[in-house]
Parts: sequence; C-alpha cells; structure tokens
Amino acid sequence: MIQRLEQGEEALTVTWCAGGESRFPYLWLRDNCRCALCRDPRNGQRLFDALDLPAAPEPAALRLEGEAVVIAWAGEGHDSRYGASWLAAHDLSPAARARRRPEILLWGREIANDLPRANWPRVLAEPAVELALLRDLARHGFALLQGVPTEHGQVAVVGDRLGHVRVTNYGRLFDVVSQPNPNNLANTALALDVHTDNPYRDPTPGLQLLHCLECAAPGGETVLVDGFRAAEELRRRHPEDFARLARLPLAFHFADATADLAAATPVIGVDFDGHVTSVHFNNRSMSALDLPEGEILPWYEAYRHFAAILREPAGELRLRLQPGDLIIMENNRALHGRTAFDPNLGRRHLQGCYVDKDGVESRRRVLERNMA
Ligand SMILES: [Fe+2]
Repeated sequence: MIQRLEQGEEALTVTWCAGGESRFPYLWLRDNCRCALCRDPRNGQRLFDALDLPAAPEPAALRLEGEAVVIAWAGEGHDSRYGASWLAAHDLSPAARARRRPEILLWGREIANDLPRANWPRVLAEPAVELALLRDLARHGFALLQGVPTEHGQVAVVGDRLGHVRVTNYGRLFDVVSQPNPNNLANTALALDVHTDNPYRDPTPGLQLLHCLECAAPGGETVLVDGFRAAEELRRRHPEDFARLARLPLAFHFADATADLAAATPVIGVDFDGHVTSVHFNNRSMSALDLPEGEILPWYEAYRHFAAILREPAGELRLRLQPGDLIIMENNRALHGRTAFDPNLGRRHLQGCYVDKDGVESRRRVLERNMA
C-alpha cells in the first residue's frame, strides 16, 4: 500500500502504491502515537498531557515495516508505529478530507414521492432497517417513521430508542393542539411559517420528533424546507448576504410565567471550510437586533432575501401526516411549519419531543460498527 517514505524537515511524505502522496507533520504523528505508553489499550484514551508532547519532535530514523511506518524519535528512546490503513484513513490532503465529509443530499418538493421513510415495527426488529433510517436521516436532515402506535407518550419512546430525550421547560414531551389561551403560537390554529425550534436555547435542540395522533381537521398540512439548500441558494444568488448572516449574531428570546430563555447565534452557521452546518430561523422568537447601527439595514436586506428563498414553492415539501406518522427532523437544518386548520371541523393533535443529536449519531455509528 505504501511505496516510499521521504523524511522531510517538518513532515513525513508517504507515496502510495495506488498513486499520490500524503504529508504528515511530525508533531501530529508524535501526538497520535498508538503505543501502549501513549494510549490506554483498554479505551484508546491518551495517557499524556498536551505539555508532555515535545514541541518539535524529530525522527532519528524511520522505516517501512510491512504495512506499517515505524519512527524512532530523536532523544526520546521512543518508537511509534502507524499502520498504512490508519494513515490513509487520516490523510490530511484536501481531497481526502473532502471524502471524509458526511454525505448531504439537498432536497426540495421534488422528493415528495420518494421520502426517506421507515416502518417503526421493522426498525425495532431489524438493525439493518434502523441503520438505513439513521443514514437517511443524516443525509436528508429528516425522515418519516410510519406505524408508530397512536398512544400518548410514544414519541418519547421513539426518542429514547434512537437517542436520549432532552427535558426542557416544556417537559419531556409537549402537545401541539389548538388551545384557547396558548403560551405559544404553536398551540393555535394559525398557519406557522417555516422555522427551526427553540433557537432561544443553548444549545438548541438537535432533533425534533413530531408524532401525529389525530388529524381530522381540514388543513394543517406539515411543510418542510431544507435550510441547507436555502442557505446554498442564498450563497449562490447573494454571496455578501450569505456572509453577513453567517457572521453576525442574532438573539432569540422566549418568556412565559416560569421561563426566560435567551441565546444568540448567526442565522447561518458555517465551519472553517465554509460548509453550512446549521440554520437558526424563527421570526416569532427573534429579539431586537443588537448590532452597530451601520450593520442593521444590510442585515435586514440579507435576512429578507433568505426568508424569501425559504418561501419558494420549489423548496417546500408538503406532507399530510396521518395518525401513526412520526416525523424526525434535524432541527438546525430541516425547517418546519404548517398551514392553517379549522379546529371546529375536527381535532388535530401532535405530540413532540426533543432529542440530542449526538446520541442519535452515536447510535448510528455503533450500529455501523456492529454490522461491519
Ligand atoms: Fe415548531
């Protein structure tokens, strides 16, 4: 797998038999030594402190031993061994890093007849079906579960099976029904523009689950919009607006008799490579913008451009949830809303809960590991 090693001044260059080269800085290699003195063999955790690491480690010698690179470190009496497959899996080149990115599929209304979906009893019985569901969820930022028993509390049963339900001031789960004196506009019969939930929390909920128990009321369609696709569309049409929404923080706030929640974050989150990682959009709970005056008007222009893209019919996926349907959404990607309904002509009752995203991703990786 490795054809040749070249000892550079600060980095090792590996030439691969399949073609191409990869560079690995010595400091990075020394820090990632896999030996039993450096890593606990039982759990893989590092056994030395950041300041125990030599500031500028240098190889006294390096050699290829079968499919492994062995480095003897100068002045340490310490050897490190790196398997070729480990090095390939941690290749720092832009192309290799791009290949390691999770696959994201951007969507709009064109997927209406090809939804990521799974049957809940099968998910419970078959690990391969559960894994397929969790992979679909990661790619699309949402998935539809069908066949969830229409019983109170089932949404939290699903949440605790796929991850861990997060308790908030709304409790472990919440009901979305039309109420006479609602503390939240969700509990009216009004249409709700698409939004992400609870951006006034830190951290915001990773996933939202909504379980349809009853839907006899005319109207009340669920609307989903891919916030990542909308953000990419904004970047394509108005790059300066995209940069503004990714740079400037927006504060959100929610208060009722017992809670006073506030958090601030940019509307569009990006990582250092420039990839979109989150969207926080909720006009109902946006606070007064707190920025230098010169930023205010350009920010609103950018925000309105983004809001207009979020409303474009091509991006809107409309679903009529049936009793037993449960929609799982990555809350900081898949925006959701609903059309108005008439509560006098039938009940509409959804039950929801929030689930931390890390637990669901952990579940997916454990299933992948177990099935490898
Ligand atoms: Fe919501």
